[in-house]
Amino acid sequence: GERVGMKRRLWLFLSVATTASTVFGDPFPSSLKIGAASSAYQVEGAWNDSGKGVSIWDTYVHGTPWVVDGSTGDVAADSYRLYKQDVAALKQLGVDFYRLSISWSRVLPAGTSNILNPAGIEYYNAVINELMDNDIEPVVTMYHWDLPQPLQDLGGWTNPVMADFFEDYARVLFSAFGDRVKWWITINEPYNVILGYNAARPFAPGVEAKGVGHYLAAHTLIRAHAKAYRLYEKKFKADQEGRLGLSLCSHWFEPMTNSSADVEVAEASIQLVLGLFAHPVYSSEGDYTQMLRKIVDQVSAAQGFNRSHLRHFSPEEVSTIRGTFDFFGLNYYSTRLANALLPLDEAAKSEGDYVNLTVSANWPTSVSEVVKVVPWGLRKLLAWIKDKYDNVPVFITENGFPDSGQLDDVRRSQYIVSHMSEMLKAIYQDGCNVFGYTVWSLIDNMEWSHGYTEKFGLYHVNFSDPNRQRTPKSSARVFSEIIKRRRLPE
Ligand code: NOJ
Repeated sequence: GERVGMKRRLWLFLSVATTASTVFGDPFPSSLKIGAASSAYQVEGAWNDSGKGVSIWDTYVHGTPWVVDGSTGDVAADSYRLYKQDVAALKQLGVDFYRLSISWSRVLPAGTSNILNPAGIEYYNAVINELMDNDIEPVVTMYHWDLPQPLQDLGGWTNPVMADFFEDYARVLFSAFGDRVKWWITINEPYNVILGYNAARPFAPGVEAKGVGHYLAAHTLIRAHAKAYRLYEKKFKADQEGRLGLSLCSHWFEPMTNSSADVEVAEASIQLVLGLFAHPVYSSEGDYTQMLRKIVDQVSAAQGFNRSHLRHFSPEEVSTIRGTFDFFGLNYYSTRLANALLPLDEAAKSEGDYVNLTVSANWPTSVSEVVKVVPWGLRKLLAWIKDKYDNVPVFITENGFPDSGQLDDVRRSQYIVSHMSEMLKAIYQDGCNVFGYTVWSLIDNMEWSHGYTEKFGLYHVNFSDPNRQRTPKSSARVFSEIIKRRRLPE
């Protein structure tokens, strides 16, 4: 009685709050897949249990006190033990799929494929089977930031040989799980991975390599992705018939004014963040763009280097990397205003941020510095991707709202509804080829260097309870209603 009443009231409230921006209750395209996401380090815990090796995030949180609340992912939401509760939560939501990641170190404790951890394989088999038994499709991220420490000791992603180790790891995953997993994301947000190769960033591995490490790591990540894709294409696709893509994150960059200078700077910004990875893989020409090359070349020279930080692909590499996708994974959270490139001398001092970005005071804020609520940015970003990459099929692999974890999370519901609404406009009005939408996150979890201070879950997790009890928030009820009705509240 009370619960249903609360749900009704909330639904009504949302209706009023979102009428202006909804697509008037149009039903979702029947092919639209809807799901929720998590990642291994953020939820699993069991950081050194049952044969798991050490990852760079284990090392990082146990070392430099970068995490704001001094916390770790040692236990996190304990999904290593409680995965059945996660699947029950997914079932309650009624999602089509669950996007989870595999911990490389849990499967290959040393990072290399000569030593397999049977308990790790068993764990992911159990999770995948539990999902399948409940008619929930697994969407599996192969690398969500937790590199095995022994590979970091060899230089991590700045070492080109890492692309081969990633290919070996991919072979293990396809062989072990590819009979059931049909959706693979090779790498999650490589842009954030490369930020770990700048000392000033609170992000593992926290390597001091200034602007140099940034583009070295990017180059290897792109090659690694392509190797995994080509391996699958050659050896597994005929039998397993799965699909592979990358998940790239980007803000939408809105020109501050419509002056041609601001428009160009906005374009430069998106090239520095999204184009860096997208162009070599998703464009018909392949390789990095001229615009990106020009900016990075100039900054490298201004820093006194006689070689650009941005590497060169051989012509063979350009053609093996180009086209290594079945879909474009997109993580969208927010938007920035672009109004100037940093003057060259300032850019030369920076570690990868070459653009002056601001936010509008009118945009609703959140507990995260990063997330200002700008739903229309998603529509513009989708249109940009459609235009640049020949209307590639887009899988929105993350979108979500951070707060401090209250159960009555009305703003999370509003965030989800308003972003899904913009997605529908992109589909119905702009002809964008979007086939999936994913909420970050299923449950509250370890938000990297923000520890447990930013919560994204549809489900609350009580982190002081040894049993890590999960409780649905009001957003879980709203989201399940959306999934059931397959349309947004009118
Ligand atoms: C990006 C990442 O993929 C995920 O790990 C993170 O928790 C969310 N966005 C929220 O910041």
